[in-house]
Order: sequence, then C-alpha cells, then structure tokens
Amino acid sequence: MLNKYHIILLVLVFGLTACIRSEKKPGREYMPDMAEHIAYEAGSPNPIFKDGKTDQLPPEGSVARGKYIYPLSDSDYEKSATLITNPFNFSKEEISGEGKHLYTINCAICHGDKGDGQGHLPEINKFPPPPSYLNEPLLSLPDGKRYHTVMYGKGMMGSYASQLDHRERWLVLSYVKTLQGKDASAATTASAPATDSTKTK
Ligand code: HEC
Repeated sequence: MLNKYHIILLVLVFGLTACIRSEKKPGREYMPDMAEHIAYEAGSPNPIFKDGKTDQLPPEGSVARGKYIYPLSDSDYEKSATLITNPFNFSKEEISGEGKHLYTINCAICHGDKGDGQGHLPEINKFPPPPSYLNEPLLSLPDGKRYHTVMYGKGMMGSYASQLDHRERWLVLSYVKTLQGKDASAATTASAPATDSTKTK
C-alpha cells in the first residue's frame, strides 16, 4: 500500500531528476510563457500589419519629445531672414568652449579657424574658398539666413541638419559671430524686411 511517505519520496525523486543537467536533453519548461516572449522580433514578418512587417514607421505627424521642427522649406531662404531668430542665450563659456569645439570639427576645414574662408581644404586646393565671414555680405547676414544655410546648405556647402541639433546649430553660429567681432547674444536681423518674396507670390 502506498502511504503518504511513499508519495513524498516519489515527488522528491522526480523533482530531483528534473535537476540533472544534460546537453542533449535540457530540462522541461513548465509554463514557458514567461521565458519565451510572444512579442515579434524586430525585422520579422508580422501578419497583424497591412504591409506584413513588424517594423512600422511612427504615425504621420509624430514628433519625438524635445525635437525641434524647422518650419521652413529649402526654398524659403528669404523668409528665414525675418522669421528665424536665435531662441538661446548662451554664456560666453558655452560659446568659447562647446561652440568653438563644434566649429573646429564641422566648419573650420572650409571656413578656416578665423572664419576668413582659408580652411584646410581651400588651402590644399581641394575646395574653392568659401566667402569670408569677416567681410560683407556675411558680416551683416541676418541670423535666420545663417541658420537656414546650416539646415539646408547653400551652393557648395552641404546641410548640417543631421550632424548638429537645434541647440548646437545656434551655438556654432554664435561662435561664428564672435569670430566676426560681434556680440553673439545680439541679433543680426534683416535690414530691410524680406517682403519681396511675399509680394511676388
Ligand atoms: C565643405 C566646405 C564647407 C563646410 C564644411 C562648411 N561650409 Fe559654410 N559655406 C561654404 C561655402 C562654399 C559657402 C558659400 C555658399 C554660397 O553662398 O553659395 C558657405 C556659406 C556659409 C554661410 C553663409 C550662408 C549664407 O546664407 O550666405 C554660413 C553662415 C556658413 N557657411 C556657416 C557654416 C557653418 C556654421 C559650418 C559648420 C557647421 C559650415 N558653414 C561648414 C562651405 C562650407
């Protein structure tokens, strides 16, 4: 007759054999739901979405938290002169520290350490010298146009929208102003409002 001691013994024997490790026969998983997740792996097919893909783009109009959306399109260069202004008030240390650092990495190779357009690439004849920041028309170029150029590029200069974020773009442009001997916190605005583009519309 089985008594309760036999049952305890059987449970112990079966219980302990479950602990024997074997390469060929891994132990059983009881209730594996927690171990094997049911989420779709990135890049795997997915019957739930119309296009059959697990990786979906964010819904149209989604804005990542804290991300700045530039309101103008490439062709709005003239508009940028009056519409775009520097929202930051950087300290001298930020401009001469991080601002200079970003300028040296991203811009000086063409514009030169002093901003005179005599960077390394023009020096070795790999690139035509960009216009100097130290003369007109760049000396009094409105802040908005400067920012627009960093966003979209202009002529031979490419866009820096993906290399620098919103704050860094203004920081580097503030450093450019100090190269021009200007107070970086004072706005350089369009001398005449850019009405021409709106008139011709
Ligand atoms: C590959 C060389 C190159 C690099 C790197 C470069 N630029 Fe330029 N940049 C130019 C050239 C060329 C122009 C003249 C564009 C024109 O007017 O056709 C220019 C023009 C400008 C202007 C005047 C824009 C205007 O509206 O007239 C600003 C401001 C400027 N660059 C800032 C920067 C900043 C800031 C960086 C770094 C983030 C940078 N550039 C990096 C080549 C370069």
